[in-house]
Parts: sequence; C-alpha cells; structure tokens
Amino acid sequence: MIADFSSRKVQEDGIIKEKNGFFFLLPFKIRPECSIFMKTISPDSRTFPKNRHAMKYAILSDIHANLEALETVLARCHELGVDSYLSLGDIVGYNANPHECLEIMRSLPVAAFVKGNHDEYASNGDTVMAGFNPHAKSAVLWTQETLSDEEHVFLASLPYKMQVRGTPFTAVHASLDSPADWGYIFDVHQAMDNFSYQYTQICFCGHSHVPIAYCKKMLARPGELPVDELKLWASKPDEEGMMFHSDEADEIVLPVQPGCKYLINVGSVGQPRNRDPRASFAVYDDEQRTITRYRLPYDIAGTQEKIRAAGLPECLATRLEHGL
Ligand SMILES: [Fe+2]
Repeated sequence: MIADFSSRKVQEDGIIKEKNGFFFLLPFKIRPECSIFMKTISPDSRTFPKNRHAMKYAILSDIHANLEALETVLARCHELGVDSYLSLGDIVGYNANPHECLEIMRSLPVAAFVKGNHDEYASNGDTVMAGFNPHAKSAVLWTQETLSDEEHVFLASLPYKMQVRGTPFTAVHASLDSPADWGYIFDVHQAMDNFSYQYTQICFCGHSHVPIAYCKKMLARPGELPVDELKLWASKPDEEGMMFHSDEADEIVLPVQPGCKYLINVGSVGQPRNRDPRASFAVYDDEQRTITRYRLPYDIAGTQEKIRAAGLPECLATRLEHGL
C-alpha cells in the first residue's frame, strides 16, 4: 500500500489521510511545507509545497546541434507557458550548430542537465569512440575542434543521471542501470532493468531517438510482466528492423496515474529516427498530471545547408528529411 503524502493531505494535527480511507497517525506535528520529510517517505508522489504554483517542464533530448529544430521547439514551449526544462544530453554532435545550441540551452531555466555519449566524446578528447559509425565519429571530431575550452569543461562536468530536486523526475540520457555504458532501451526487459534503479515516479531518457513509454504496475498478475509498453506511444520495428510510429499525431497526451512508475523516452529534437522527421519532445504538466509528446516540423533544409557548408558527411544531411 502506498500512501499519498501530497501536501494537500497532510493535516495540521499530524494525521495523514490516504486516498483509500486509511489513516496514518504520526507521533509528532508536521508542517505541510516540510517537503524534505515528505520527499524521504514518498519518492513517487507530489512533493511540492502547498503554495507552490503549477509548473510545466519541457523535456528535451538529443538536440544534436540542430539550431533550426531547437528554435522551433523552444518557440512552442514559450507558447505553452513552459517554466523549466530538462536537458537529457547529446546537445552536440551530428549537426553544425553546437556552440549556438549550447549557448541557448545554458541561458534557459534548466532544472537538470545530464550528459549524452556525444557530449562525452566531444569533451573528453577521445578519438577512438568505440562503437561509433564513421559519420558520427567525424561529426564528433569536428565538434571537438569547434567548441571552446569552456564548453568542453561544461560538457565534461555533466552527470550521467540526476534525481531532480522538488520534482518526481529522474533524468538520464541512456539508462539508469548502466548510464555510462550507453545501452539502449527498446523492450520491456530493458525497461525492467532501468526500473530497478528508478526511485522516482517518472524517469525521462533519450539516446535511441525513438519516443517510447513504459509503465511499471504496482501489482502484476501471475504470468504477467510487471512492465508494459504504453500503446499510446508505442513504436514497432518494420521489416528492416527500424523503429517507427504508426501514429502521426502532433500531440499525444499521457495521463500520469498514481501507483504507476513511468519510463519515458521523449525522442530527439535534432535527429529523429522513427521515420518521422519532425522534432520530438515532451512537456510534463504538474497541475494536469500529464505528459504530452509533441512532434513539430522545422526548417530541415536550413539545417542541411549548414551541414554541407561545414563539410560534415552528406548522409547526416539526407537522413534528417527521412527521420532516420
Ligand atoms: Fe543522440
């Protein structure tokens, strides 16, 4: 049984009332704004002070130095009244505006920056980049040369994962079970490994550039896995093994249910790979308790022109229009 210790349910006389009618009697008087106490006992419930205003968080991942996509996404975030941002890593790599994208992201009210694999290789001087294809590698080498020393230090200093204070979020680029090994999450078994290390209600991740969502139930029936892929955001592989979405909706709203934990891949702002070339990102609304996934068209031709002008591999330009 999980009690809802949200501040609205904390009584001045020290009694906490649970949704299903159960009461917990505490031996001392606690204050509704005592969020540190509530955070300790209730990692997956709302932990905000009573007088705190509702917040909207935009979650952006894999921007990959694509200025046109980033500006389009941020304009929409402004219209939506976003208050704060989570940056899930790979701000740089592949495309031609790493400095500009870093400058913009660092100017925003960002509650969490975590490091992606391209951020790591662009800042640690690694020239081998095990596992990278030659095109990705050549873009990282170009990025290493392009960034300033201060930007190298900033990227190198980022953590692999972060529990975001005052929110029900954990942010990670790849996965919580081995964040520095850059593994991918594409199925419920990989999602279960991640949930083993997830102490908040929601974990946002990126890395695969494919939006996908999983829910861990409180109880699973015999023979049932405790984790489901959420059909609302479901993607599936085509005959070549590429992931794609059948749903082309501009917005898909996922209600956050009490008693469930969520692992949400928000897709990529700057290099989507599920055969939908539109920029992908998500917004968490803590008043509505929803996570909305957005897809937005942007000026792909403008980004391609810059890739070519910078002398980056041609395939990095062409893949953008195909969402690969
Ligand atoms: Fe990436």
